[in-house]
Amino acid sequence: MTSTFEIRKVGGRIGAEILGVDTAAELDPETVEQLNAALVEHKALFFRGQQLDDDGQTRFAANFGTLTTAHPTVPALDGQPNVLAVDSEDGGRANRWHTDVTFVRTPPKASTLRSLIVPPYGGNTLIANTQTAYQDLPEQLREFADRLWAVHTNDYDYAQGKELDAADQERRRVFTARTYRTAHPVVRVHPESGERGLFIGGFAQSVVGLPSAESHDLLRSLQAYVTRPENVVRWRWELGDVVLFDNRATQHYAPDDYDDLPRRLHRVTVAGDVPVGVTG
Ligand code: SIN
Repeated sequence: MTSTFEIRKVGGRIGAEILGVDTAAELDPETVEQLNAALVEHKALFFRGQQLDDDGQTRFAANFGTLTTAHPTVPALDGQPNVLAVDSEDGGRANRWHTDVTFVRTPPKASTLRSLIVPPYGGNTLIANTQTAYQDLPEQLREFADRLWAVHTNDYDYAQGKELDAADQERRRVFTARTYRTAHPVVRVHPESGERGLFIGGFAQSVVGLPSAESHDLLRSLQAYVTRPENVVRWRWELGDVVLFDNRATQHYAPDDYDDLPRRLHRVTVAGDVPVGVTG
């Protein structure tokens, strides 16, 4: 399919709705290149009213690179090795700012999410621009952050802010069936745009070389720039929406604000490279 599509910005600093692309169709290389360029510029692309199934979502995501398996530790959907279900019934409530799977050496380039069940209220996804967050830092803090590395792990503190019931404990056991611990630069240079961005989020546990209290405080201060409202776009899901975001320049968060209502998204992620910092 050859298309001339429209890009309609959703927020000043992040997010654009794409009109005129049928994500279920075979896209020609020029369209894919333009969509990829839009992804790098706007960080998160939103496609309303799509007609994808799991195979279609997998094909669409594959336009942007090689796919990863669904997740390093959480099992994929039956017969769909690239598809991860984010299902509220199974505890899939990602109410924690994070970038997907940063605890591995080569975290995903991009993620696609597709809505299958949308609650009547709440259940939005917030996506933050980590490059404008970096630009917002005072110059001295930017220069300091440029030289830092952080350790990312999937073995984070699950109990933060809540009691773990038996189901939570089982999910934690699956999530940490294999423990990853990987150091990445705190400031990542985007491999396509060359822009710098903060590369931290929920899996970043400590800053290399700092005592734990200072490390914790510093990560918290840097993270506060990421979550500034002006760096964040909020997507209100409708059935059939597809969202594509650049994990090299974003974090996301799904507020757990829809009571016991069901919510289900499917996620397919595109493989990425080893994050490169300012000093290489
Ligand atoms: C995710 O972390 O990939 C899921 C985000 C969401 O549930 O909106």
